[in-house]
Order: sequence, then C-alpha cells, then structure tokens
Amino acid sequence: MKVKIVDIETERLILRKFNEADANDYAEFMSDKRMWEFQPDNNKTKKDYINEFPKVLAEYRKRTKIGMQRYAIFLKSTQKVIGYVGVAVNWPNNLGRLSWALNSKFWHKGYATEGVSAIINYMFNTYNLHRIEINVWQGNEASQNLALRLGFKQEGVDREARRKNGKYLDSINFGILSSEWKVIK
Ligand SMILES: CC(C)(COP(=O)(O)OP(=O)(O)OC[C@H]1O[C@@H](n2cnc3c(N)ncnc32)[C@H](O)[C@@H]1OP(=O)(O)O)[C@@H](O)C(=O)NCCC(=O)NCCS
Repeated sequence: MKVKIVDIETERLILRKFNEADANDYAEFMSDKRMWEFQPDNNKTKKDYINEFPKVLAEYRKRTKIGMQRYAIFLKSTQKVIGYVGVAVNWPNNLGRLSWALNSKFWHKGYATEGVSAIINYMFNTYNLHRIEINVWQGNEASQNLALRLGFKQEGVDREARRKNGKYLDSINFGILSSEWKVIK
C-alpha cells in the first residue's frame, strides 16, 4: 500500500497535501530559526525556500510511490499553512514513522497536539499499523513533551547520534503501539 495524503479535518485544522499556493507559508516556517534549533544545521533564507518550493512539491508527489510524504498543517482561522507532519510507513513491519514542525508564531496553542493526534489516528486505523515511532534530539523539550502528551513512551537513547553546531547530541526514541493508542482513544 502507498502512503497517501488525504484531507483530515479537525476542529481548527485541515491536514492536507501541499500545493503551489503554499510557497510563501512553506518558506516562512522553513526559514524560522527557532524551528531548526534541534534539527540539522542549515543556512537557507526565506528566498531560497521560495525558489526551491516547486522542486520540493515535485519530490513530495513522487514520494507517494515509495511511501514517504508530508502533510501540510493548514489553520482554518487564518487560511495559512503553519507547519508539517512527516509520515512514512515500513510496510513489512507495520511500522509508522513521524516527524513534525510548526512555525514558531503558532506554538503553544495546541495545534501540534490536535494535528498529530488526528494523523496518528488515521494511520493506525487505515494502514493497520502495529507501532508508530519518532526520534527527538536531546534538549528538544517541546517535541519530547508533545510525544509524551500524545501517549508515546520513551524507549531508548542513541548516544551522541546527531551533530549540531559541531556538538554531538543524543537521539531519543519514542514509540506507541496500536493497543496503547486504542486505550487512549
Ligand atoms: C514540537 C512542536 C511541533 C510543538 O508544537 P505546539 O503546537 O507548540 O505544540 P502544542 O501547542 O500542541 O503543545 C505545546 C504546549 O502548549 C500547551 N498548549 C496546548 N494547548 C494550548 C492552548 N490552547 N493554549 C495554550 N497552550 C496550549 C501544551 O500543553 C504544551 O505545553 P507543554 O509542552 O508544557 O506540555 C513545536 O515546538 C516545534 O515545531 N518545534 C520545533 C520542531 C522540531 O524540533 N521538530 C523536530 C521533530 S522531532
């Protein structure tokens, strides 16, 4: 089965495919320095991201074939894309994988909890997954708290597995099983 991005609507959000009209919103959150604090080093500007967007869109469209995609998080009240949720599935193991990031102007309003929770629900129900996992870098308290709030358990640590500004950081592994998600829901 392919990972297909479908429209998922929640109270305040629509999780959907990226499209051509999202170039400026995409460039705004991708060039947000706060969003990159616990992700790989990068020095791209907003203009770089606007310029690369058509190529990125083409990549997203191709990736449906090999099972990796990104949901755009569209905020209904402002009609704006405020971030993404990355989804991938390792089919032989019924194993899902997530990543997430939001424009920092929209943090602390519960949007990530609302959007990611709807996507987890969709993935467990539609793809018959047994487990979903995410890695979070050492120091990324917001993402660790989000994972725990969603019901993930911390499972292990890959010591000094990531490099940021010349320093090695641990990568912390979180996972949730479908049986645990059913209890939460
Ligand atoms: C991790 C991230 C997506 C969280 O986004 P967010 O939308 O701020 O998350 P939420 O609002 O759902 O939750 C954040 C806090 O807001 C609180 N909150 C939830 N609803 C709220 C509301 N309506 N009003 C005020 N605060 C609220 C939550 O309780 C939570 O607090 P806590 O962390 O102290 O428990 C965001 O910080 C981010 O993009 N970080 C950088 C991306 C990154 O590092 N990605 C790497 C992937 S691992």
